[in-house]
Amino acid sequence: MGRQRLCTLAIVLSVFLVIAVLGEEHVHDQDASDDDIQKPVYKSPTVSGFAYLAEHFDDRERFRTVWVQSQTKKEEIDEDIAKYDGVWAVEEPTRSVQDDDLGLVLKSKARHAAIAALLNKPFKFEEKPLVVQYEVNFQDGQECGGAYLKLLTQEEASLDLTKFHDKTPYTIMFGPDKCGVDHKLHFIFRHKNPINGSIEEKHSKKPKERLEDYFKDKVPHLYTLIVRPDNSFQVKVDGKIVNEGSLLDDFTPPVNPPLEIEDPNDIQPEDWDDREKIPDPTAVKPEDWDEDAPAQIVDEDDLMPEDWLENEPTTIPNPDSVKPDDWDVEMDGEWEPPQIPNPKCEGISGCGPYKQKLKKNPRYKGKWLPALINNPNYKGKWKPRLIHNPEFFNDQHPFRMMPIGAIGFELWSMSPDILFDNVIITDDEDVAKQWADETFEIRRQKIAQEGSSVWRRVVDFTSENPWIWAVYIVGTGLPLLLIIYCCCFSSKDSSDDEKDPLAPNEEPKCPSPEGSASPEDQVPHLSRLDEPSNDNNENDEETDEIIASEKDEQGASGDGPRRRKPNKE
Ligand SMILES: *[C@@H]1O[C@H](CO)[C@@H](O)[C@H](O)[C@H]1NC(C)=O
Repeated sequence: MGRQRLCTLAIVLSVFLVIAVLGEEHVHDQDASDDDIQKPVYKSPTVSGFAYLAEHFDDRERFRTVWVQSQTKKEEIDEDIAKYDGVWAVEEPTRSVQDDDLGLVLKSKARHAAIAALLNKPFKFEEKPLVVQYEVNFQDGQECGGAYLKLLTQEEASLDLTKFHDKTPYTIMFGPDKCGVDHKLHFIFRHKNPINGSIEEKHSKKPKERLEDYFKDKVPHLYTLIVRPDNSFQVKVDGKIVNEGSLLDDFTPPVNPPLEIEDPNDIQPEDWDDREKIPDPTAVKPEDWDEDAPAQIVDEDDLMPEDWLENEPTTIPNPDSVKPDDWDVEMDGEWEPPQIPNPKCEGISGCGPYKQKLKKNPRYKGKWLPALINNPNYKGKWKPRLIHNPEFFNDQHPFRMMPIGAIGFELWSMSPDILFDNVIITDDEDVAKQWADETFEIRRQKIAQEGSSVWRRVVDFTSENPWIWAVYIVGTGLPLLLIIYCCCFSSKDSSDDEKDPLAPNEEPKCPSPEGSASPEDQVPHLSRLDEPSNDNNENDEETDEIIASEKDEQGASGDGPRRRKPNKE
């Protein structure tokens, strides 16, 4: 048979294809392994310009002099959980270790932890942008907790970082935060009301990117915030912009209050008619409109089925049941055998007194209501008048925030081992970029190489152990073979059955959707599934007595057990 030869050919070809693809891969990877001799090597970065703070955490000595762990307590909560006793460490990451590359790790979980460092000099919001950048690696994923950085407000009194806590005033809060399915990348700034000096948090609109992966992929991500003197801002993750806009337009609540507000003293006049439609006052109920006519009436044409046994009860005492030996008439009452369905009623239309079915009442009209017409006195929806907002102000320079004196992490996390690294606060985007090139980008390349080297190890193993080819061929070829076999030979079987009597010359097809088994088999199966659920809806929602009783009369059809339920009580 020509078809069989074709199938065999297909199998042989596919096996060759698999071998060819694997072989090709092998060659490529050998090339790659030659290349990576000159892979970049990590060394602690140097700042290429001015930075208010640049911290790579590789120098434990420096870390101890610059960073201050909070020794205070959280305000207004129970003493035993209020302490900032979270554990911080400077150590290597748990994966992709590079010589001498350390990070700051929040080791503990479910504890308050706070650590902070002063800037070299306070950042003042003047002619230059603010650039904040740091790496976070949720080395153990993140269930619930933050990894955001607070840029602490420089106040008249110098900042005492040992007292850093949740109420310490900050100017900006920036970074990732998650709880459950709520993934956030905060950019919050605190704005000073120019009229009365009160301070309000302004939250940026949400990033347009999906954030989930940053919390669970267990690799470092680089978070960058740039705020410019023209009030524009950008938020980047791994160098890619995920959020941008203006301090004036993209924050809630907005920096500037509305010029006009609704007058709180204005009230809706009593004669204000806000009904758009009213019942037609000229409409009268038609003479023949009978509000009391029932929706359904007895169908007088309905006759008792011939096989209906009117004198047979639907149930009888079970003749096989016997009075229990320990039955006590005084205690339990007179013994009666339990009722069972009357066997004489089986297989016929029904037993007992016959009730005619109900039908729709043609005279049924329900309650009469006059038609609705447009209300001639309709004045529209009432709204209070607008007045000038007494709290209005127009701050065109929200960039001019309160100066920043220090930065700090003040966190609580359900997942341990959050690694922070390569924090930089600068006023020069290029300085931040260069800093990332020497740190984050080198680590990113290392991780990429490690990823590809898993594949390379497989290839190396193969060239040393040629027998593994047999495994590959069986592993990839066998399923293919099976698919082809099933397609060709099962369709042959079914078409044999069909064609034999009528069309002996019909060309057998290889993968034939029409020829497979019998599609009709599935259709009734599906509708069988649908039907009962529709029935249930009807019964549950409409709770129409008439429908129920009608079905009772029809005797035991499809969903009998369901309908019997209401009668049980
Ligand atoms: C300052 O004004 C804002 C509204 O503009 C108001 O919400 C706030 O309570 C005021 N603060 C003080 C201290 O009066």
